[in-house]
Amino acid sequence: MSDRYASFVQTGAGRALVKRLGLPDPPRLRRHTPGDPLVPGPVLLGSSTGGRLAEPVGKILTAAGIELPDPAAATGATSRFAALVYDATGITDSTELRQLYDFFHPHARALLPCGRVIVLGTPPAEGDSPREATAQRALEGLTRSIGKEFGRGVTAQLAYVTRNGDAGTPVSLESTLRFLLSGRSAYVSGQVIRVGTGTATAPADWDRPLDGQVVLVTGAARGIGAALARVLARDGARVVALDIPAAGDELAAVANEVGGSAVQLDLTAADAPTRLAEHLARRHGRVDVVVHNAGITRDRTLGRMDADRWDSVIDVNLSSQERINDVLLERDLIPAGGRIVSVSSIAGIAGNRGQTNYATSKAGVIGLVDSLAPVLRERGISLNAVAPGFIETRLTARIPLMIREAGRRMNSMAQGGLPVDVAETIGWLSWPATGAVSGNIIRVCGQSLLGA
Ligand SMILES: NC(=O)c1ccc[n+]([C@@H]2O[C@H](COP(=O)([O-])OP(=O)(O)OC[C@H]3O[C@@H](n4cnc5c(N)ncnc54)[C@H](O)[C@@H]3O)[C@@H](O)[C@H]2O)c1
Repeated sequence: MSDRYASFVQTGAGRALVKRLGLPDPPRLRRHTPGDPLVPGPVLLGSSTGGRLAEPVGKILTAAGIELPDPAAATGATSRFAALVYDATGITDSTELRQLYDFFHPHARALLPCGRVIVLGTPPAEGDSPREATAQRALEGLTRSIGKEFGRGVTAQLAYVTRNGDAGTPVSLESTLRFLLSGRSAYVSGQVIRVGTGTATAPADWDRPLDGQVVLVTGAARGIGAALARVLARDGARVVALDIPAAGDELAAVANEVGGSAVQLDLTAADAPTRLAEHLARRHGRVDVVVHNAGITRDRTLGRMDADRWDSVIDVNLSSQERINDVLLERDLIPAGGRIVSVSSIAGIAGNRGQTNYATSKAGVIGLVDSLAPVLRERGISLNAVAPGFIETRLTARIPLMIREAGRRMNSMAQGGLPVDVAETIGWLSWPATGAVSGNIIRVCGQSLLGA
């Protein structure tokens, strides 16, 4: 569904009105198209004294063909950058936070529209002293504020990179840097991403990071699931698209479009996990990536909610994911290097009036990631979730107009996200190259104010 206001402000009359009345000004976001350069301009890479990541990051960015001007020479008023990347791992005391100001202040207005700010830190829990942990934790305040302050589609993120995984980190750090710099992360801002240890394999071609991977997408007939099928197939995956039999025609159309296969199955049926496992074993012998996207809402305030509404939402959105994971893992159908990505929601973080059932199920998905990711790490399988905010789909089209408008504008991008934004984020978490990112909940919400 279309955001008419966002289209209007791109017109001459719209621009004038926005300026005169101080109305929200949703920028046109930079989204990924295959073949695009990673960034549309030079990247300024800075480092705190003794930072351990600037050097490997410099090598990664140079090898990716990105121009890296010398920070000392790049202070002129005419310099314009596509991204500011700062290695803050050398900051071990709050008195050294001043180095952040010294780097960002002169360049705060030097970013191109839809520019990127990426700060790299050490997980506070790995700090050698309480002072180091304190200073590293402080980085969150900087990045979240920059996300809210810079506007014009600029995103800002903090990546905490483990110090224990230095030997194996570069590939996973590269996949995360590529995601954050590119148009794939257009609607992701204000996030804290943890890059840990884990096996990661670089693709032969970064434009096809899922080449040859067998990927299951549930709820693939429409909305975010259909966008997922398209994005993952575009990136090289063989897509197994699943949805309920009643959505069979739409599902077949999506599967045909992406050259994948269709499975008509109600995930809540008692035999769904075994039927699915048998199908995957017979057709592919394995499944490299499982994306639990299918979800429903059955909204009512708690006092007016019948038990069916409660039960069906918990079963589709949470319990069925657990049952399917159990059977696929028991039968060893997800190999080492496999990925599971679940779809949560900011309702699961912030709660929402009329959605006690939905928010419970989506908070449960976060619990699933917290509890199962450490167990799966031992098998070389990563597990993460995305938490979408306001995404333009049939689900959100049903929200009453005024609440829908508030949902769209109450974020740093002043607009709703598109299904493709969620799909691109899940895609990155699914890549073989992203093995060291596990146990993360990544919000795809344009830095929504809800639950922030
Ligand atoms: N649209 C948003 O703004 C938003 C925000 C936060 C989270 N989400 C989550 O994103 C996911 C996709 O949402 P969407 O907006 O594309 O919704 P949608 O309703 O357009 O699509 C959901 C799909 O899941 C399928 N499905 C439902 N029950 C199923 C079952 N028992 N077995 C198999 N398939 C089943 C549906 O048939 C449908 O095709 C959901 O988990 C939703 O909760 C969406």
